[in-house]
Amino acid sequence: MSDGETRPRRVFARLITFSMYTLTIMPISNRLILGAVAAILPVMARAQSTKPMMKAIVIHEYGGPEVLKYEDVPRPEPKENEALVRVIAAGVNPVDALIRTGKYAKFFGTTLPLIPGYDIAGIVEKTGAKITKLKAGDSIYAYVLWGGGYAEYAVATEGEATAKPKSLNYIEAAAAPLVALTAWQALIDTAKLSAGQTVLIHGGSGGVGSMAIQIAKARGAKVIATASTSNQELLKQLGADVAIDYTKTKFEDVAKDVDVVLDSVGKDTLARSYGVVRKGGIIATLVAEPDQAELDKHGIRGAAISVKPNASELAEITKLIEEKKIKPVVSQVLPLTEAVKAQEQAATHHTRGKIVLKIADEPK
Ligand SMILES: NC(=O)c1ccc[n+]([C@@H]2O[C@H](COP(=O)([O-])OP(=O)(O)OC[C@H]3O[C@@H](n4cnc5c(N)ncnc54)[C@H](OP(=O)(O)O)[C@@H]3O)[C@@H](O)[C@H]2O)c1
Repeated sequence: MSDGETRPRRVFARLITFSMYTLTIMPISNRLILGAVAAILPVMARAQSTKPMMKAIVIHEYGGPEVLKYEDVPRPEPKENEALVRVIAAGVNPVDALIRTGKYAKFFGTTLPLIPGYDIAGIVEKTGAKITKLKAGDSIYAYVLWGGGYAEYAVATEGEATAKPKSLNYIEAAAAPLVALTAWQALIDTAKLSAGQTVLIHGGSGGVGSMAIQIAKARGAKVIATASTSNQELLKQLGADVAIDYTKTKFEDVAKDVDVVLDSVGKDTLARSYGVVRKGGIIATLVAEPDQAELDKHGIRGAAISVKPNASELAEITKLIEEKKIKPVVSQVLPLTEAVKAQEQAATHHTRGKIVLKIADEPK
C-alpha cells in the first residue's frame, strides 16, 4: 500500500485520538478554551467569506405568480463591463409574467434561478474596470437585457444605462426605459415616422402606447389612439388627436389611409389593421409576426418589433423628458414584497400606464 493511500487513515486516526484526549485526559479549563475557540472559528470564517446580501424576488421554478419568492440572496458582483446599481425603483412589464411562466424560456434564453425586472432606476454603487462613462454616485435608469431589477442591487452595462432625467423621480424614471425604447424603435427606427404623417396606436393607454402617443406627437405626427371607455380622457391628455373607444367603435370606421400602425394588441386587432394602412405604409407589431399575404394584398410593409437596450436612444428619450414633451404614466406603486400583485396586474393587459416597485426611499 502506498503512503498516499495510508495518509488519510493516519490523519483520521490522529483526529480520533485527539478527540478522545479532549474528552477524557485534557484538563477541564483547557477543554473550555478549546470549546470557545471551536465556537468562534466558524463565525470568523463566515464573516471573512460572507458575500454582501440583498433582498430580491427570486424565481426557482417556472409557474404562476406563487413562484415569486422574496429572499435574501448574494449581491451581484459587476463584471468588468458592468456597473453595480443600488436600485431605488423597478418597472414592471407584461413580459415579466410571461418569462415567469417559462413558456418562452428557450426564446428568451432564460435559465433558473432568475430575478425578474428589466427596468431599473437607481444609483451607481461601483463600476467594473472597463466602465468609462458611469461612476459611483451617478443617478441612472436602464433597460437591462438580462433582468435582475426586482432587487436591492442589479448590474447594468454602459450600453443599457444612461443618466436619469433630473425632472423625474426614481419611480417615474423606472417606468420609462423598456416601453419608451419599444415605442422609439417601432415608430422612429422601423417606421421612420415623420412630421405630418398619421399613426394609429392601439392600446394607447398602456405602457408602450402612452409613450408612443407622446413620442409621435413630439415628432409632429397626427395620432389616432385606441383604448377602452375609462381611458379616453387619458388618451386626450397624452396628446392623441383622435381617441377611439374600442369597446364602442370599430377603429377601421375612423382610421383610414394611415401611414403607420403600432399594434400592441395582436389577434383580431392586427387582422383588421392591414386595411387601414395606405399603400406603402407600415404596420409595426409588438406581439405577432405580420401576415405576409395580407401585407402583399394591401401593398404595405410589416415589422415584428423586438426591443433592445440602447443607451444612446435612451439619452434621446431623456432629452424629450427634460423638454417636457414626454412623461411616463405611473398608475400604481407597490413595495418589492408585493411583486406577486404587481405581476398579476401586469398580466391583465389592461394596465393604465405603468406599475412600479418601490425598492428603497428616494434619496434626499
Ligand atoms: N416585442 C417587444 O419588444 C415588446 C416590447 C414591449 C411590450 N411588448 C408587448 O406589447 C404588449 C403591450 O405592452 P404594454 O406594456 O403596453 O402593455 P399594457 O401596459 O398592459 O397595456 C396594454 C393596453 O392595451 C389596451 N388594450 C387591451 N385590449 C385592447 C384592444 N382590444 N384594443 C385596444 N387596446 C386594448 C389596454 O387598454 P384598456 O385597459 O383601456 O383596454 C392597455 O392599456 C404586451 O403584450 C407586451 O408584452 C412587446
